[in-house]
Amino acid sequence: MKILTVSEADLQIAAEALRAGKLVALPTETVYGLGADAFNPVALARVFEAKRRPTFDPLIVHIADLAGLDRLVDLSLLPGGAVEKVRLVAERLWPGPLTLILPKRPEVPDLATSGLATVAVRFPAHPVARRLIELSTGAVAAPSANPFGYLSPTRAEHVVAQLGDRVDFIVDGGRCEVGVESTVLDLSTGEPTILRPGGMPRERIEAAIGTVTVFDRSVAHPTSPGQLASHYAPRAALELYPYGALSPADSSADEALLFFDGRSHRAYLAAASTAGRPAALVRVLSERGSTVEAAANLFDVLHELDALGVHRIRAERAPEGGSLGASGAECLAAAINDRLHKARTTTRADT
Ligand code: TXA
Ligand code: MG
Repeated sequence: MKILTVSEADLQIAAEALRAGKLVALPTETVYGLGADAFNPVALARVFEAKRRPTFDPLIVHIADLAGLDRLVDLSLLPGGAVEKVRLVAERLWPGPLTLILPKRPEVPDLATSGLATVAVRFPAHPVARRLIELSTGAVAAPSANPFGYLSPTRAEHVVAQLGDRVDFIVDGGRCEVGVESTVLDLSTGEPTILRPGGMPRERIEAAIGTVTVFDRSVAHPTSPGQLASHYAPRAALELYPYGALSPADSSADEALLFFDGRSHRAYLAAASTAGRPAALVRVLSERGSTVEAAANLFDVLHELDALGVHRIRAERAPEGGSLGASGAECLAAAINDRLHKARTTTRADT
């Protein structure tokens, strides 16, 4: 494994490697991806192997322009009205942290889509990702660059620690700005449905195409593994509480506490000093209560706590409802709570 910079010369090396069927971890605005040429089935097989990912879990194909979409997707297979929605979403929300599920062309290898009739496509906003896709083959399949089921990487160091020599090159683009994976939006049926909440808030999607359905785990069976209840998990056991419900009465000295904001942390400290409880290891996702900032810090903090060898994390949910983001449309509470919910099951066996 070799680490590359984001210089044009290094991106040329990375692009050549992708064209040759090698694996290149690359930064995107959401998380680091484990990239391979989307049209090379041998390279795709290596992605599943490197991640120890079951082949029933399809990949996201990344493009650098809308011509890339045409090579992957057959829009004529969409039901009436859906084509217009694709056009609106592509025009208003791409490039960005949004993945679309659309009918695939027969040329797209089955391994990329796990044999489904649809393909997941994303046009990332990150300039390094875009340049690399452009310089290579124009279609780069890239799941998050972590072993299956584990936390997604938000820094090149996380990829080094998790995948090491299972990848040929890692392009180090620094820290990922969004910090949680893209929102996955299924536009392949007549009913636009969010399969995975993520970096693109539902409010912005609805402003572009009208009402969307959000997949609800409690009433429907998962159709994509990103909807599985346990995923994105740290090694530590994570217990999840409602916002404001972390109580000093439950605390022990060897755990970590994960607060959403400074307000809730201060309330806890006041209660803990009254009760004379020991100070635990504490992290606050966003002092000022911004969901955008909290999302950017979430995986980073969980990686850090794992590296510290913490065995138990007690975390609180982000408050939903009122938007705490920089603007009314930027509330990422749903994405944060989805990841916390999936991380909450206890110790994982296979990393
Ligand atoms: O932000 C992101 O989306 C990152 C960066 C690297 O782009 N990628 C990422 O990929 O999170 P991955 O493989 O970890 O998650 C892809 C999700 C999975 O939940 C997968 O099941 C779903 O997309 N998916 C892929 N193809 C699908 C399809 N045809 N139908 C339904 N879900 C699909
Ligand atoms: Mg993933």
